[in-house]
Amino acid sequence: MKEQIARVQAAALEQIAAAGCMKELENARIAILGKKGTLTQVQQSMKDVPKEDKPAVGALLNAAREAISAAMEARTLELQKQADAAAVAGVDITLPGGSLPAGGLHPISIVREEAVRILRRMGFTLADGPEIEDEWHCFDALNTPSDHPARNEKDTFYFDSGKLLRTQTSTVQARVMEKQAPPVRIICPGSAFRRDAIDATHLSAFNQIEGLYVDHAVGVGDLKGTLEYFLKALFGNDTAVRFRPHFFPFTEPSFEIDVLLQATGQEPRWIEIAGCGMVNPAVFENIDRETGKSLYANCTGFAFGIGLERLAMIRWGIRDIRLLIENDVRFLAQFQ
Ligand code: DAH
Repeated sequence: MKEQIARVQAAALEQIAAAGCMKELENARIAILGKKGTLTQVQQSMKDVPKEDKPAVGALLNAAREAISAAMEARTLELQKQADAAAVAGVDITLPGGSLPAGGLHPISIVREEAVRILRRMGFTLADGPEIEDEWHCFDALNTPSDHPARNEKDTFYFDSGKLLRTQTSTVQARVMEKQAPPVRIICPGSAFRRDAIDATHLSAFNQIEGLYVDHAVGVGDLKGTLEYFLKALFGNDTAVRFRPHFFPFTEPSFEIDVLLQATGQEPRWIEIAGCGMVNPAVFENIDRETGKSLYANCTGFAFGIGLERLAMIRWGIRDIRLLIENDVRFLAQFQ
């Protein structure tokens, strides 16, 4: 019996050492330790061993089993190592990896973040409102009567429900004042939509930043100082800015702001980038009537709405607004 164990063990170790791949090693395991395996068979003949020899024979069997398991494990590791080496054979794993091209922010995102950063530093906080709006917030609250051309079906995207895609971020002015008592100092970056014919300076889906400052004794000087400071912080101290009298239903007096665009290879030209003005008292009355409170009765304030695409055009001398929505990587890669 003892000799038989020694023989089986020696044969098993040889078989394991000879296995050239995982499959052969698995076959060897079955041939040795499987149901009809060589070691299993020897183990089964334990019952014929005389009682007094059992402990010694049992110890031998255990030792054989352990030696075989250890050999299997060692051979598995060796084979794995060989397979790994074969997989990278001929490959120089010390070479640096190839790099993937990194994406970057869209120029609109870049100016929006810069504009928000400057205005927040000046004390404005961020506000938000929905892009799908009702006529009250987009027009009525903002003193825009139903015969105003902005409300024409040809100028605005209406839904069957009567709701519309907001034509301006000014909607957020009404939404904030309905909920909050003065003072109000908010900005709201967001998208706006108009049925405009698309050309070099107009898109039908575009982006604005709205601003609203309401308190007691806010004057035109505050408006002008705030916006001039903002535009110079954004474009540099020598930026040429002009305020032109204009009309908006929700401000009185109202202005449009132009900044000089100096695009390479083109004559400098004034580009309108924002509308602004002193909040029309009619707007405060509308809000107070709607909420049933009289929080805004004695307030004054200014508001502005800046076109973000226009800011980007001036910042980088972009001559055609459509370049901003074409998503041509050759164009966009310049801003990274
Ligand atoms: N909402 C105007 C537009 O889209 C811009 C504007 C003008 C916003 C005057 C204002 C404002 O807040 O006071 O053309």
